[in-house]
Amino acid sequence: MLELQDVHSYYGTSYILQGVSFSVPQGKCVALLGRNGAGKTTTIHTIVGLHKAKQGSIRFKDQPIESLPPHQISRLGIGFVPQGRRIFPSLTVKENLTMPARKRKQEGRGHWGLERIYELFPVLKERENNFGTQLSGGQQQMLAIGRALMTNPEFLLMDEPSEGLAPVIIDQVGEIIVQLKEAGLSILIVEQNISLACKAADVILIMNKGKIVWSGSPDELMVNEDVQHKYLGVSA
Ligand SMILES: Nc1ncnc2c1ncn2[C@@H]1O[C@H](COP(=O)(O)OP(=O)(O)O)[C@@H](O)[C@H]1O
Ligand SMILES: [Mg+2]
Repeated sequence: MLELQDVHSYYGTSYILQGVSFSVPQGKCVALLGRNGAGKTTTIHTIVGLHKAKQGSIRFKDQPIESLPPHQISRLGIGFVPQGRRIFPSLTVKENLTMPARKRKQEGRGHWGLERIYELFPVLKERENNFGTQLSGGQQQMLAIGRALMTNPEFLLMDEPSEGLAPVIIDQVGEIIVQLKEAGLSILIVEQNISLACKAADVILIMNKGKIVWSGSPDELMVNEDVQHKYLGVSA
């Protein structure tokens, strides 16, 4: 569904992504793990067109997207939940959700609208008329996910959805990701929370200094303390 091949990316003269290749199969969830500064957000920004790769190819459903601007990439069916959620604080929950809404007639695919979002996140319905600033961190994360779903994506990118959330809320986010996968979405999630990633993902990738240095199943990661210690800062 999504395939990166030998992607190289710079900020000015800083060489950040150093030949990144991986793919996310249809209907699967892939988690990209790694320490702060590893290049995870840069990878996601490069996919959604916010940052241009200097070299390499990015294909979505066999179509090259590396030269497209962000709004066209979004229109192809790639939804993006940014790091830090980026809720509009002076808009209500409902306004945050309806702002990016866009009618796309896609056969054989459920249409995400307000009602379906409220079914998935009943708390957003309760808080429909509250402003973004009046929500807890967990509610803001649900709103950010809901807002991305309103664009009717087939593919969802999430950048550290668990950041700053209490453990019980992180579990809820994990369940939501599993539900979205069951609803047919393909997902790439960037995380620092290993247990959330292992719960939600089919495949784990680890990034270090702009390179994918390890990949495997959640079970393989859980038993590999060396890798956890070396790249994820988990003490043995
Ligand atoms: N806008 C930017 N300008 C210059 N350097 C940046 C910028 N954004 C990120 N970087 C650098 O790129 C590297 C990777 O950052 P990032 O992709 O945000 O890592 P991660 O999301 O894994 O924490 C870091 O060294 C960071 O300092
Ligand atoms: Mg980041």
